[in-house]
Amino acid sequence: MKIGVVGLGTVGFGVVEILTQQKERLEKQIGEEVTVKYGCSLDEVTLPEGIIYTQDFNDVINDDEVDVVVELIGGTTIAKKIIIEALKKGKNVVTANKALIAHDGQEIFETAAKHHAKFYYEASVGGGIPVVVPAKEDLIANEIEKIEGILNGTTNFILTLMETDNLDFDEALTIADGLGYVEADASLDLDGIDAAHKIQILAMNAFEIFFDFDKIKATGIRSVTKKDMDYAKKLGYRIKLIAQAKKIENGYGIDVSPTLISLKDMVANVNQAYNVVEITCNYLENVLFYGKGAGRYVTASAVVSDIMKTHQQDMWKHDYQYVENIYPITKSKYYVR
Ligand code: HSE
Repeated sequence: MKIGVVGLGTVGFGVVEILTQQKERLEKQIGEEVTVKYGCSLDEVTLPEGIIYTQDFNDVINDDEVDVVVELIGGTTIAKKIIIEALKKGKNVVTANKALIAHDGQEIFETAAKHHAKFYYEASVGGGIPVVVPAKEDLIANEIEKIEGILNGTTNFILTLMETDNLDFDEALTIADGLGYVEADASLDLDGIDAAHKIQILAMNAFEIFFDFDKIKATGIRSVTKKDMDYAKKLGYRIKLIAQAKKIENGYGIDVSPTLISLKDMVANVNQAYNVVEITCNYLENVLFYGKGAGRYVTASAVVSDIMKTHQQDMWKHDYQYVENIYPITKSKYYVR
């Protein structure tokens, strides 16, 4: 296996580090040599010995020896070009790019299928928590009825801080920003867009459907007040930013909304920057996936697992049906669960 890592930021460099540190064990597990051939980034970085540094992603995708391209630059323009070009050359692609999959997943899946290439993206939802693959493969015996969860660590951290330290939204946001939690485009976190990207990816896989991202109604946490939180608590609830997707009579209900959750519910007790995903299905009933949803090694661990899986059997055909009927569930300020 020869790998090219495109994007050497927080996660990209973590991937290179894990592949270097775990080389021997990983090679033993998949029964072949695992080599990072290229590290590609516009900013010059010092890479472990033997890895070729380049600023031009074409060096990676035009090299016939590279069979796994890891896209970690983010965004939806150059990243898309890299992924599509690599897939067209029959290379396997691994990414953590949630926005790109949410917007252009169908085109990418179809390109991968057409060129018999694998496209894996476990790291796009919940950082290192294995949830994309389980929602599709490991629950295969079940019909999935509903997926819901806290998919954005930054807003969960802000809500936790507002409650525990008695802060208002702006004060908590300033602290979260100072700790480096908030995305460069803060709106992605604060307005529920990042969580919407993630619930789209989970819904696509759980229900085997394609749908337009802009059909998801996303409401963030800007309007959540300390007063609302205090009232909620008096009534036995906690306010969390919940993304959910479920089958409804004439389609699928999918949205992101501040939600009142009973304090007795485990999801209400997922605090700080943690993520949780709860899947409701017919045989297993309820299953929760809980853990750290962001960070260098957390996210890189899922990327490395996907890289290894490219050399295992393919269960990802994405032969899904496009649906028109996607509706918001929440009609008022708060969804009451
Ligand atoms: N901004 C994201 C979050 C990063 O806060 O969860 C991980 O996807």
